[in-house]
Amino acid sequence: MATNIVKNPELVKESSYINGQFVSSDSGRKFAVKNPATEEVLAEVSDCGVAEANRAVDAAVEAFKSFKKTTPRSRSKLLRRWYELMMENAETLAQLISLENGKPLAEAKGEVNYSASFLEWFSEEAPRIGGQTTQTSAPANRLYTLKQPVGPVAILTPWNFPSAMITRKAAAALAAGCTIVAKPAAETPLSCLALAHLAEQAGFPKGVFNVVTTDKSLKDVGKLLCEHPKIKKVSFTGSTAVGKLLMGQSASTMKKLSFELGGNAPFIVFDDADLDLAVDGAIACKFRHTGQTCICANRIFVHKKIYDEFAKRLVEKVKKFKLGPGMDSSTTHGPLIHARAAQKVDSHVKDAVSKNAKVLAGGTPATDLGASFYNITVLSGVTKDMLCMNEETFGPLAALVKFSDEQEVIELANSAEVGLAGYFFSENVSRVYRVAEELEVGMVGVNTGAISDPAMPFGGVKESGFGREGASMGTDEYTVVKAVTVAVKSN
Ligand code: SIN
Repeated sequence: MATNIVKNPELVKESSYINGQFVSSDSGRKFAVKNPATEEVLAEVSDCGVAEANRAVDAAVEAFKSFKKTTPRSRSKLLRRWYELMMENAETLAQLISLENGKPLAEAKGEVNYSASFLEWFSEEAPRIGGQTTQTSAPANRLYTLKQPVGPVAILTPWNFPSAMITRKAAAALAAGCTIVAKPAAETPLSCLALAHLAEQAGFPKGVFNVVTTDKSLKDVGKLLCEHPKIKKVSFTGSTAVGKLLMGQSASTMKKLSFELGGNAPFIVFDDADLDLAVDGAIACKFRHTGQTCICANRIFVHKKIYDEFAKRLVEKVKKFKLGPGMDSSTTHGPLIHARAAQKVDSHVKDAVSKNAKVLAGGTPATDLGASFYNITVLSGVTKDMLCMNEETFGPLAALVKFSDEQEVIELANSAEVGLAGYFFSENVSRVYRVAEELEVGMVGVNTGAISDPAMPFGGVKESGFGREGASMGTDEYTVVKAVTVAVKSN
């Protein structure tokens, strides 16, 4: 059990957090949270349903009445205290991430810092949320705008960043004065519950931050939150298919939405690139969390003049990786979230090989380690008819595609229906501006594969969704603008 492993067992919570209390499910039912590397059961967590979710909404609605009136400075102080508590408990929080999600401990520590950075960032943004004054056409009128909290919000988060996806949404919402019902992924609820415990210690009033844990009733709880008239906004990170479903459900109440959905990131290496930089960038971007991020490179386009050399250097580095359980100190890359995810990678590899792609590294499940492990794979000779070019693999498969000129590669890059992140490497300054403007994505990395930062507005275009998280505009997603026109009588 996780309580026997982590530094501070007090942070291991196994029930939902509603109206300032950790509560069991009405039915008494629980679901097992397992370590994806070993299948070991880490915790038995309350499996709540619609009734408990309704109570969480009621708590958030009640708490909103007073929380919306708090000063931005007081919310800033609460967020700052939450940040400090995260840093004080960084080791335990990293252990929880590594255990429930599988990522290596060093990477999990990185996620704790990244996650806490959103609390720090939005503690600084809270006091700076403000409106505008504008001159009107009518001489007597004075016009100003207010940015007010939208209301109680629901945040629906994925398993790949069990901590950072909570804080990126929650910190912006709280800074704006909203209250929250969070529904973490059933695979990884422990990090979110630990955050709830720390939020309580930081001093957030009861009902401001609620967590509903659910597995069996996942879809019903999601539907309730999207359709509930008193939930005024839903923020979701996950697949495009689920995003479309939630958008349909939210239509009945005209909810404000932000959706961070799937990606299929192009990663382009031009013949004028710094090759070492590009190889390191590809490693960082493609294999972060064993390929399980929405902004991982999915299609690696390399100019024909440097293709063979790039492939050789990439494979040399990949062969030094060590797959294993996240908690082993020698592990560089962990398992996938479950066996199904490993099977998906395998289906992409088999499809590509059947269409004449060549395996330069890996290419098989790492069954000796367990059903969720897949060997880090590099494929050469990938073409646009292959599955790995058209679907997000969400696993450790680097698909190398050869190209000849800039226009051709931009067309290939933009041929995807989604547009979250895109990357390219070039030392030509005009090309840098040109290609950054041409790529149909929400975020571009130029000569870097690591773009994540609380200062960056995170989000996509096309079927990758809409809305931005982080940055100064992160709080806009949780406010509504009210225009006030005052007619001034002349003396
Ligand atoms: C994601 O995979 O959606 C999040 C990645 C990040 O924030 O860096």
